[in-house]
Amino acid sequence: MLLDDLKRGDVVLEARGITKRFPGVVANNKIDFEIKAGEIHAILGENGAGKTTLMKVLFGQYRPDEGEIFVGGTRVDFKSPLDAIELGIGMVHQHRKLIPAHSVIENIILGHPKAGRILNLKRASQEIDYLCDKYGFTVDLKAKVWQLSEGEKQAVEILKALYRGAEVLIMDEPTSALTPLETEKLLTSIEAMSQNNLAIVPFITHKLPIVLRISDRVTVLRRGEVVSCISTEMATEKSLTEELVGRDVIFRTERKVVERGEEILRVENLSALSDKDFQALNSVSFSISEGEIFGIAGVSGNGQRELVEVLAGLREAESGKVFLYDTDITSESSSKRWQLGIGYIPADRIGVGSIADFSLVDNTTLNYYFDDDYYHRGTLDHK
Ligand SMILES: Nc1ncnc2c1ncn2[C@@H]1O[C@H](COP(=O)(O)OP(=O)(O)OP(=O)(O)O)[C@@H](O)[C@H]1O
Ligand SMILES: [Mg+2]
Repeated sequence: MLLDDLKRGDVVLEARGITKRFPGVVANNKIDFEIKAGEIHAILGENGAGKTTLMKVLFGQYRPDEGEIFVGGTRVDFKSPLDAIELGIGMVHQHRKLIPAHSVIENIILGHPKAGRILNLKRASQEIDYLCDKYGFTVDLKAKVWQLSEGEKQAVEILKALYRGAEVLIMDEPTSALTPLETEKLLTSIEAMSQNNLAIVPFITHKLPIVLRISDRVTVLRRGEVVSCISTEMATEKSLTEELVGRDVIFRTERKVVERGEEILRVENLSALSDKDFQALNSVSFSISEGEIFGIAGVSGNGQRELVEVLAGLREAESGKVFLYDTDITSESSSKRWQLGIGYIPADRIGVGSIADFSLVDNTTLNYYFDDDYYHRGTLDHK
């Protein structure tokens, strides 16, 4: 396909003068951008800088208002992502687009333009195993997606793009939901892909050390415009931060000493099962007091998710107790705990924490359906 005719370092994908407007905002303003075969080209920008928009234009998901796109030197006009996929461009979205109830392999082959009418799972699994070996991914193809950690889901998204023959791989904030160890694994895979001449565009909001470590070039976007595009060797954390925000930055690291107050939450010998029915929590105990920020470290898949869900009342405890200010809340419902003052922000905020098609008002008032201040006879008082 694409790379057959291209050498390492040749321009694979190029955007010239891309402008994309949304009502009231110019998301991309005359952007020039290119990516070469074998290159890891990071895109940096604060929230709303226009990174996702630019990549969606390059992936054929948005049509630009102005500007041109070239693939392997030829001008293209993408009518939909199918056209981009056909030419070897793949995208791993910021918000996962997997179907939780389906297996890994089903998700990877789902919607493949050349899947045909008859499913050949055996052949597909051989091809996917080959990709896993080549780029160092480890996932159980038969597992259901809802059972996977964020890092494994990420791997599935990447495999999905590679299975479709992606040679330019665009990744939207690939590390934002990953633990440090998962991030390490991902970076190793990205390096393997670049060794194999794939062109990779990770775009990342604030993790500058990652940009400095893996990328060959870095483009900084600010308010829809390119403010710089340099070889990563020339960049430092400070120079990139200043370009990101457009002014001098002082890194502050002083910390205030906080007095611990009364005990708020106490967990005693808590045990719980995982979704796969193995022992996820085994007699965990700790206590948190007022004024305290309590961190829990661990490689993902070692019970953190189950612990948080038990605390939020979304998963049953097998044994053990949870106390809020000395009140036993172990068997309270999640809504009762919420009324008692326990908030819960899930890792998957789009999938679990909110309803994407609802407005901000509808989302923020969802939990108040029982509250007369907000709802009258089942109807939300918008005012
Ligand atoms: N579909 C859309 N409709 C209307 N406005 C949009 C749409 N998509 C993006 N925008 C606006 O365009 C601007 C750029 O958004 P974009 O999502 O490209 O930024 P980003 O750099 O990816 O930010 P983030 O780091 O938060 O993901 C923002 O002001 C955003 O509100
Ligand atoms: Mg984005």
